[in-house]
Amino acid sequence: MSGKARDCYDIAVIHGDGIGPEVCRSAVDVLKAAVGDAGLLRFSEHDGGARTFVETGTALPESTFEAVRDADATLHGAVGDPSVVHPDGTEAGQDFSLNLRSRLDIYANIRHVKLYEGVQPRITGKGPGDVDYVIVRENVEGLYASRGGGVILRDHAASDMVMITREGTERIARKAFELARTRNGAPADGRQRVTVVDKANVLRSYAFFRKVCTEVAADYPDIELDFAVVDAMVAYQVTRPEFFDVVVTENMFGDILSDLGPATVGSMGLSPTAEIGDGVGYFQAAHGSAPDIAGQGIANPTGTVLSAAMMMEWLATEHADPRLSAIGRRIRVAVETGLADGAILTGDLGGSATTTEVTDYLCAAVAGTGR
Ligand code: IPM
Ligand code: MN
Repeated sequence: MSGKARDCYDIAVIHGDGIGPEVCRSAVDVLKAAVGDAGLLRFSEHDGGARTFVETGTALPESTFEAVRDADATLHGAVGDPSVVHPDGTEAGQDFSLNLRSRLDIYANIRHVKLYEGVQPRITGKGPGDVDYVIVRENVEGLYASRGGGVILRDHAASDMVMITREGTERIARKAFELARTRNGAPADGRQRVTVVDKANVLRSYAFFRKVCTEVAADYPDIELDFAVVDAMVAYQVTRPEFFDVVVTENMFGDILSDLGPATVGSMGLSPTAEIGDGVGYFQAAHGSAPDIAGQGIANPTGTVLSAAMMMEWLATEHADPRLSAIGRRIRVAVETGLADGAILTGDLGGSATTTEVTDYLCAAVAGTGR
């Protein structure tokens, strides 16, 4: 719900499964440290995910749905347990995010891919400043719109359908062009650019996606329009990522590109997400619940912490409240300093910091009591 600045913002928190609770607690601690005694944020905790499915028969309890709907913003850890599946083989825990997205029409999934100082990239020949792009993933249509609606025919054939609508494509394209206007352009040449990623050379649905994006681009003559087919795009993400500024794409393609991108610049563990609808904001790291390392205290909470920063920045815009953008900024600076110092490098980044050590460092830094 957007509107005027408030005395206090309600944040719904869902810890979820696997490493979800560990990374989520870390981000909440950092937010609390950044806010200090100001009482600006009020947190409430709610259940959801695979464990909740096992206990209650649904991954998204109605009470949690209502809490997310009514909150000013929602922070999520991660959900999912590969052993908890529906009879059709799909993961039950994933109903949590997927049903929230469709029921609240959370149509834009925004993920930054940025190479930070102090982080060793997995691609060669690139340094800090060379990679800084944003993937704007359509979040409710595309191939995943079929979730639960596909057909399995006599245990012999199966199908799902790609759903691309004009309205859905126009609004995600607009988000991408608007975002490009707020950025400094691609690292390679400083050009503000939107790259439309599709498979327009093969399928009608993607050719339509490209056509509608091109129509929207006419309203943004100041932004360069660029196209890439998705198979070429994954190669470009490795060979010339500096060319990209804002990338807009269909749901499943965006899901895939937004795992590859963060991996090229170090780790999925660094990648935040803002999932945005009209007046609704849902924030979580792009990584999953990583059950293999859950409970060991070694998960990288940075993606969730940066998601919390995105949450503050989104709320700041929604409510025209500069106090929140200042908090978001402080969190970002703390993360960037910690990475550059080597103080918050977890195992996935070649370091040995624990989740607690990262959290303690960031809490001290955002509270102004750090080194
Ligand atoms: C993501 C995740 C989700 C998705 C799953 C867990 C439902 O992979 O947010 O990228 O596919 O969108
Ligand atoms: Mn994903």
